[in-house]
Amino acid sequence: MKVTVFGIGYVGLVQAAVLAEVGHEVVCVDVNVERVESLKKGIIPIYEPGLTPLVQRNYEAGRLQFTTDAAHGVKHGRIQFIAVGTPPDEDGSADLQYVLAVAKTIATYMESSKIIVDKSTVPVGTADKVSACVAAVLAERGVELGFDVVSNPEFLKEGAAVADCQRPDRIVIGTDSAAVEEKMRELYAPFNRNHEKLIVMDVRSAELTKYAANCMLATKISFMNEMANLAELLGADIEKVRQGIGSDPRIGYHFIYPGCGYGGSCFPKDVQALVRTAEKVGYVPELLKSVEAVNSRQKEKLFSHVEAYFGGDLQGKRIAVWGLSFKPNTDDMRDASSRVLMEKLWAAGAVVQAYDPEAMNEAQRIYGTRSDLNLMGTKEAALNGADALVVCTEWNAFKAPDFDLVQESLKHPVIFDGRNLYDPDLLESRGIGYYGIGRGRSVLG
Ligand code: NAI
Repeated sequence: MKVTVFGIGYVGLVQAAVLAEVGHEVVCVDVNVERVESLKKGIIPIYEPGLTPLVQRNYEAGRLQFTTDAAHGVKHGRIQFIAVGTPPDEDGSADLQYVLAVAKTIATYMESSKIIVDKSTVPVGTADKVSACVAAVLAERGVELGFDVVSNPEFLKEGAAVADCQRPDRIVIGTDSAAVEEKMRELYAPFNRNHEKLIVMDVRSAELTKYAANCMLATKISFMNEMANLAELLGADIEKVRQGIGSDPRIGYHFIYPGCGYGGSCFPKDVQALVRTAEKVGYVPELLKSVEAVNSRQKEKLFSHVEAYFGGDLQGKRIAVWGLSFKPNTDDMRDASSRVLMEKLWAAGAVVQAYDPEAMNEAQRIYGTRSDLNLMGTKEAALNGADALVVCTEWNAFKAPDFDLVQESLKHPVIFDGRNLYDPDLLESRGIGYYGIGRGRSVLG
């Protein structure tokens, strides 16, 4: 099938490449000229495991095109995906300006009927806004063309995005049209083998499903972080508690890992956006507001520990930071806990020596050159002469470090473990101070 994808970010690029791989002809349109030019040269702008060969193979085979030419993109696909960003606006609601700009573009250039698919995460009612926008432009143009707007939210996980798109656990389609459902079935047929993965529903339910999924996951994390904070004060070990509760199949082991807060481009903004949506219809979402509040506080946890450990004086201290991305296997630092930590360390006069396996360029792009940030080439180099080590991201590369080297390199042999990677007793038996999340050890008063 001929497909067009607007927005070549984490979602659009992965989705486009995966669709091309099964034989669809995909044109990707983006307003970012640099991004499009890089992709044409085979340079992939984001890090996702398995993405580079997939994109290169399909680009070379001619099934995947990259362009800034929106008219060409609109002409190409019967199916037009909108996969642009929906960042929070000033009050935390999802900013729909990019989604509606694409809707306008499609309506401006379309010469035949189109199926417009909202792939971006958008609030309930957005499909109606996209419809109204397209209808208004068509009316201005004085042309009568049929179009449908479908909600097809994306559930991929950064860091496993290719695998998630190739083997989705569900494909949610929001439409009231049997003909559109049939087309979407045809599009996703290669991914719908073995057992039924399409869950077809009305548009509004599909839109809400995406927010409900992310808010549920964020809730699990904030719940565990709250338990971890209690464990810390009560002298219990949350890791033992995690195992104890996860063994109940009604709770399960997934997504109950305590840590230094959730980040990324989705959970923080989606929880906030659903809170605003709820408030706009007169509902006070107490639980979601708490999920957000607990997370904001949790992101400050590592800093509070470090500050308390050094008696409130961080002026001139050098702090090694392992892990900058918001989670492993991605270079994405949007809303990452590492950023809250580093910015607070800088405000307190400390110098950061940071290392991340994939996010160094992203850190450079975000923070530029500053005298209190040293981006180091290896995790070992980051330790050199540092006063303490803080682990922000659970990359595999950090899971079994050479503790002798850590001890020799640090001026104060102490680790603040934001992801509970290490065994507190083992480290303490070696003479290394250890503060995790909810491990029964606290430096805080
Ligand atoms: P992104 O920020 O990585 O990419 C968005 C792209 O859209 C950029 O390349 C930008 O230049 C482009 N763009 C903006 N305006 C445009 C226009 N008028 N025409 C063409 N291109 C335009 O965003 P990301 O992370 O891919 O997210 C996209 C949507 O998918 C968001 O709504 C997000 O919430 C949702 N989502 C993201 C997931 C993730 O893990 N990143 C997972 C599931 C959903």
